[in-house]
Amino acid sequence: MTIHTPLNEDNARPAGAGANDAASNDHVASYKADLSINFAGIRSPNPFWLASAPPTDKAYNVVRAFEAGWGGVVWKTLGEDPAAVNVSSRYSAHYGPNGEVSGFNNIELITDRSLEINLREITQVKKDWPDRALIVSLMVPCEEEAWKTILPQVEATGCDGIELNFGCPHGMPERGMGAAVGQVPEYVEKVTRWCKTYSSLPVIVKLTPNITDVRLPAQAALRGGADAVSLINTINSITHLDLDRMVAHPVVGGRSTHGGYCGSAVKPIALNMVSEIARTPETANLPISGIGGISNWEDAAEFIALGAGSVQVCTAAMLHGFRIVEEMKDGLGRWMDSKGYQKIDDFTRAAIPNTTDWKHLDMNYQVIARIDQDKCIGCGRCYIACEDTSHQAIMHLAKDNGTARYEVKDADCVGCNLCEITCPVDNCITMEEQDTGKPYMNWMEDPRNPHRAA
Ligand SMILES: Cc1cc2nc3c(=O)[nH]c(=O)nc-3n(C[C@H](O)[C@H](O)[C@H](O)COP(=O)(O)O)c2cc1C
Ligand code: SF4
Ligand code: SF4
Repeated sequence: MTIHTPLNEDNARPAGAGANDAASNDHVASYKADLSINFAGIRSPNPFWLASAPPTDKAYNVVRAFEAGWGGVVWKTLGEDPAAVNVSSRYSAHYGPNGEVSGFNNIELITDRSLEINLREITQVKKDWPDRALIVSLMVPCEEEAWKTILPQVEATGCDGIELNFGCPHGMPERGMGAAVGQVPEYVEKVTRWCKTYSSLPVIVKLTPNITDVRLPAQAALRGGADAVSLINTINSITHLDLDRMVAHPVVGGRSTHGGYCGSAVKPIALNMVSEIARTPETANLPISGIGGISNWEDAAEFIALGAGSVQVCTAAMLHGFRIVEEMKDGLGRWMDSKGYQKIDDFTRAAIPNTTDWKHLDMNYQVIARIDQDKCIGCGRCYIACEDTSHQAIMHLAKDNGTARYEVKDADCVGCNLCEITCPVDNCITMEEQDTGKPYMNWMEDPRNPHRAA
């Protein structure tokens, strides 16, 4: 049986996809780079996977995602029967000033469909799409028997790997699963070991960000035999309240509960956590699937440069649909061509040597803000920012025509970047490197450090 979708041929095969992607053999590549990956033994025509969530909830979605060009999916988390039951409503959002969704919050549980239906669909989809990565996310109670029972059933589908959902922060932890496991390294290690014992599939351990030091569960996963980790799952959150009803969103009857935060707002947190695992010697060789706020090819490239071997996307696909993968593949491929990178491995971890602890930064390095007077629209934001909260290093002058002119006082500028961040005009304020003539000197070598080693 082939699972059919209502899409016609025109929108089933997007234009602009890469030649190295098996989905796109019938299209002229707009780039030469090879986007294919081998992630912990799992092959995928490109590094873009859909994360375990509503986009991967059923064959209907996954097939259309593959048709759109996604390299892989992590199927919505399976659990024991009876299937989970969800509430209504389930989502809320944190909006930016222009109404765009910057952060997304959900109180959804794992799959609300039976194990049998999911397994049947996974088997068929994998059979129909052998070149795509199909990973099955799992969450069952922290009991050996439960894992021993489900793992062979999952392996029988022919899927490429499993992902252990140790991250779900809402609902499931109250039942002793999800983040309740992920927050205790001993549990992470134990369950990972059971999975390696009762399954021959690659095991990806999905980590929760709701923890003080993400390196600890990553190390525990490695000790348990994990083939890879993926991160981040969602962050505990309340986005906003209905102040008339005095209840947070999403509202269920007259009540609410904390949810899991994701979307572009969480990207900086996820990037840091990925880099922490990638630059810790014990886990430096552990493959990482990067997740969290990835919305375009640049986000993906950043995760890869900081240590990710594949990337997963949820919120951006939920907000914009499956076809965002076209731009992602195209953009990444073209950028790789422009940099001379022939394959993903050529720049994986490329930013790790430059990511370090504060104590290794150069105390003698100096930048100064420069205002391009031709671009400046005289709004004064930089002046207010520097005057009120930084180093009073911008002068407010009057032009002959009475309008304002702003200039940086070089001697007072500490190079904090605040004015550059505040300025609404692209490249109007740039940070210019100064030649101090001084050699590299870190804080441990700095005479101003009272704890400096003699
Ligand atoms: C509505 C919703 C449901 C989710 N369900 C699951 C799930 O069943 N299993 C899981 O591991 N992660 C689940 N996640 C988390 C995502 O897989 C992903 O880790 C997170 O959303 C961060 O990625 P993003 O910023 O691209 O959304 C869910 C996320 C959302 C928004
Ligand atoms: S970089 Fe910082 S200190 Fe320098 S002018 Fe801008 S805001 Fe002021
Ligand atoms: S914030 Fe930018 S545009 Fe506005 S006054 Fe400063 S330099 Fe000019």
